[in-house]
Amino acid sequence: MAASLTSPLCDQQHSNSNERYEETLAKLPIGKGWATEHLVHYQGFWLTPRTALKGLMWIQDHFNPRATDIFLASSPKTGTTWLKALIFAIVNRTRYGISDHPLLTAGPHDCFPFLDTYVDGNNRSLHELDVLPSPRLLSTHLPLGLLPNSMTDDQSCRLVYICRDPKDVLVSKWLFLNKLRPRQLPPLSLEEAFELFCQGVSHYGPYWNHVLGYWKASLENPEKILFLKYEDLKKDPFVVVKRLGEFIGHPFSLEEESGGVVEGILKLCSFENLSNLEVNKTSVLKYSRDIRVDNRDFFRKGEVGDGNNYLTEEMIQRLNAIISEKLLGSGLELGN
Ligand code: A3P
Repeated sequence: MAASLTSPLCDQQHSNSNERYEETLAKLPIGKGWATEHLVHYQGFWLTPRTALKGLMWIQDHFNPRATDIFLASSPKTGTTWLKALIFAIVNRTRYGISDHPLLTAGPHDCFPFLDTYVDGNNRSLHELDVLPSPRLLSTHLPLGLLPNSMTDDQSCRLVYICRDPKDVLVSKWLFLNKLRPRQLPPLSLEEAFELFCQGVSHYGPYWNHVLGYWKASLENPEKILFLKYEDLKKDPFVVVKRLGEFIGHPFSLEEESGGVVEGILKLCSFENLSNLEVNKTSVLKYSRDIRVDNRDFFRKGEVGDGNNYLTEEMIQRLNAIISEKLLGSGLELGN
């Protein structure tokens, strides 16, 4: 007999997590929010109180990873949507043809859901997550250090991380989150967003600590964590996608390579193609119970260096200096 989707056990589990959430939330320091009134400071990172903190408690309390899971981790606005489409297309390339591909009628975020808001966002149940077929494709914006050990210690499941030039992240995030900002709050100016970003006060920030957590772990455990940069994906997508296929256990054969399969995937997932699909122009993503995002807002320009068109020379120098200092000695370079 199929298990009930809303079993008493699930209800009990939810209520325990909710209690822990309410208790934790009440004690946390707050900072200015970008799309919400406040962010809360939890174990070194700034999170939205309702969505991110609640999602985190839920994952820590209930999520059971599988050896076959493929996780995508990212700070917002670093190329999550693109990478979701690419990984989904790589994993499912023998199941679907180009004309009946799910990415033509469903947004990348529907094909590759956010683990953080899996239950809260769409009235889905834990059971639904448990019965998803393998390999499950699940994404998170949470920093590595906040993920449960079951996700980070398991050597079998794979984790792909993407980062991006902080100046482009800041501007992309500022434009995106101002659209989600409730009307009763005044718009966040670029100057304010810049100051907050430099202080580390942004969704899942400090940005550099988010990146460094995954960077260091990828050096220690390269079999488990693949660390990618948006700029490399833009510059040499063919090479990165081949590497990605190998890493997630779906390598391209020589026949596939010579038969144009990689190019086909790149074309399907290109900014031009995805952003012009009806589904990505009109549909809405239920990111969480409170947050709805128009899919079209995940596709803006998709360019490298656009942040420089918004920031003053002084801002660029200051942010570059902060990033250089924070990354010093890590062996990682971000932006310029
Ligand atoms: P811009 O705002 O700089 O244009 P995320 O998916 O993490 O929210 O990141 C969104 C950023 O990725 C946006 O950047 C968006 O335009 C860009 N993007 C979305 N789809 C893309 C694609 N297929 N190729 C390249 N960039 C893409």
